[in-house]
Amino acid sequence: MILLSPYPSSSSSSSSSSPPSPSLPLLFDHYPSMELESSWLLHALYAFCFILVFIIIVSPRFALFLYLLLLKLWCNCEICDAYLNLSWAKSFDNLCDWYAHLLKHSPTKTIPIHVLGNIITANPENIKYMLKTRFDNYPKGKPFSLILGDFLGRGIFNVDGDMWRFQKNMASLELDRLSIRSNAFEIVRCEIEKRLLPLLVSFSGKEDGILDLQDVFRRFSFDSICQFSFGLDPKCLQLSLPMSEFAVAFDLASKFSAERAMAVSPLVWKIKRKLNIGSEKKMKEAIKIIDILAQEVMRQKRVKGFSTHKDLLSRFMRTVDDDTYLRDIVISFLLAGRDTVASALTSFFWLLAKHPEIGSAIQVEADRVLGPNQEPKSFEEIQQLHYLQAAVHESMRLYPPIQFDSKFCQQDDVLPDGTFVKRGTRVTYHPYAMGRMEEIWGPDCLEFKPERWLRDGVFFSENPFKYPIFQGGFRVCLGKDMALMEIKSVCLSLLQRFHFKLVFPCHSTPRFSPGLTSTFRDGLLVLVREKVTQLSHRNYMVHVD
Ligand code: HEM
Repeated sequence: MILLSPYPSSSSSSSSSSPPSPSLPLLFDHYPSMELESSWLLHALYAFCFILVFIIIVSPRFALFLYLLLLKLWCNCEICDAYLNLSWAKSFDNLCDWYAHLLKHSPTKTIPIHVLGNIITANPENIKYMLKTRFDNYPKGKPFSLILGDFLGRGIFNVDGDMWRFQKNMASLELDRLSIRSNAFEIVRCEIEKRLLPLLVSFSGKEDGILDLQDVFRRFSFDSICQFSFGLDPKCLQLSLPMSEFAVAFDLASKFSAERAMAVSPLVWKIKRKLNIGSEKKMKEAIKIIDILAQEVMRQKRVKGFSTHKDLLSRFMRTVDDDTYLRDIVISFLLAGRDTVASALTSFFWLLAKHPEIGSAIQVEADRVLGPNQEPKSFEEIQQLHYLQAAVHESMRLYPPIQFDSKFCQQDDVLPDGTFVKRGTRVTYHPYAMGRMEEIWGPDCLEFKPERWLRDGVFFSENPFKYPIFQGGFRVCLGKDMALMEIKSVCLSLLQRFHFKLVFPCHSTPRFSPGLTSTFRDGLLVLVREKVTQLSHRNYMVHVD
C-alpha cells in the first residue's frame, strides 16, 4: 500500500491529474533565449538533451550508472557506498534486511541514506513525534504525490489537509458502524464458503496440485474488498481462476507506480511518460481500464440506486457528485484493502507451515471457544479468540504488509533522538526493522511467539508507535478491524480443513519483490491436503454465479 502526500492539483487521477512535467528544453528557460537561439550552444544543448533522452530510453542501466556516478560524487560514506555499489546484496537477501541490520547497530536506531535524501528510523519516540506530536510537519509530501497522482489522484492516500479530513470522516462514519461490520463478515464468509474452500478442495491431494497461495489470497481479498467497497463482485476467485480485467489493470498500475517510486531519478519516468513509451505507456493503458471500469461501477450503482445500500461507495455517492473524485476515492479504498490483507495472509501461512504447533494451538482454542469444528457466526465471536489474535499480530510484527512508510519534513526539525532533519528530507519509519529490535521486543525478537501478546491468556494491544503496522497517530488505518476479521476468518476455515506443505521448505527467509506492499518474490507455493474431519465430508459445491 502506498503512503504518500498532498496532491495540490484539483484534477483527477488520469494523466491529466499531474502537474505537467517539464520538458527538457524548459530546464534551460532561465538562459537568455535570444543569445542561445543564434548560437551553436543552443544546438549543443539540444544535442545533449537528445543524447540524454536516447540513453535513458535505450539503456536505462546506463542511465542508472550515470546517475549513480553523479550521486557517488556527492557522498562517499560507508552506507551510501554499499547502497550505490549494491554490495549489501552480498550479505542480505532483501534491502529491508540490510536496513534492519544497520538500524539495529545504530545507537539512536536512526540512519541517514544521504544519496537518497532519506532518514530511516526504527525509534518509537521518533515515530510518535512524526505521526502525532508534529503530525503537521510531516505530511506525505509532493514527490510521492506526483508518483501516485496518475493512479490515485485525490484519493485518501494521496492527499493531506481538508481533502484527507473529508474522506477520513466519511470513511470512519461508515467503517465504525456495526451494520457494516456484519455486512463485511457475511461477504467474507460467503467468499470463503462458496469460492475459497471449493478451490482448495479441487487442488487437494493431487500430486502435481501445487497452488500459489499468495495468488489465491490476492484474488480472495480483491473480491472481498470490491464487494465491500462497491457492492459489486469481480469474481476473481472462481474455480476456473479467471482474473478480471480490472484486477489485472489494477496490479499493473500498482506495480508501475511502485517502479516510479523506486526509480533513482524521477526524470526517467517523467520522460518516459512524456514520450508515452515502455512502462509508462502500459501504466497509462492500465489506468484507462481502471477509469472505464470505475465509471461502469458508478453507472451500475446509479441504476441500482445508492440511497439505501450498505457499501462505502454508496455513502460517498450520496455526498459527492464529481465522478473523477469518486473514482479516486474508490481506487484508494481498493488499494487499502487488497494487497495488504493478501500480504498478511501469505506471510501468516508461511509461518504456520513452518510452525505447525501454532496452527494446532489456534485450532484447540477455536474448538474450545466456538465448539468442536464450528465456524464463527459473527464478527464479535471471532474477537473472543485471543490466541488467534495474538498469532496474527505476531506474524505481522515479523512480516508487516507495509514494511516502511515515508513522510516529508516541511520545516527544519530535530527528532527526539537528536537527529537533525532538514526541510524537504524524506523521513521513513521502518516497521520491518522494528520487529527485529531486541530493545523493543527483547532477546527473543526473531522468534515467532504469539505468547508475547498474551497476559493470562488475554490479548493486549501494544503501543502503536512501537508496533506501527497499521500506522498510528492521526492517519491510523481505518480498516484495521475489518482486515483482522478477514485474516482470522480465512485462517480458521483453512486450518480446520487442510494441511499445507511448503514446496520450498528450506528457504529460511522469504525473498521480497520490490514494491509498495510486501510480496513474496516467488509466491507461496504449497501442496494442499484435506484433513479427515467431519467438515471435510461436506460437499463444497462449486459456486457459479
Ligand atoms: C493487514 C491489512 C492492513 C494493513 C497492514 C494496513 C495498514 C495501513 C497503514 C500502514 C496505513 C497508513 C498509510 C499512510 O497514510 O501512510 C493505512 C491507512 C489506511 N487504511 Fe489500512 N491497512 C490494512 C487493511 C485495510 C483495509 C482492509 C482497509 C479498508 C477497508 C483499510 C483502509 C485504510 C484507510 C482508508 C487508510 C487511510 C487512513 C488515513 O489516511 O487517514 N486498510 N493502513
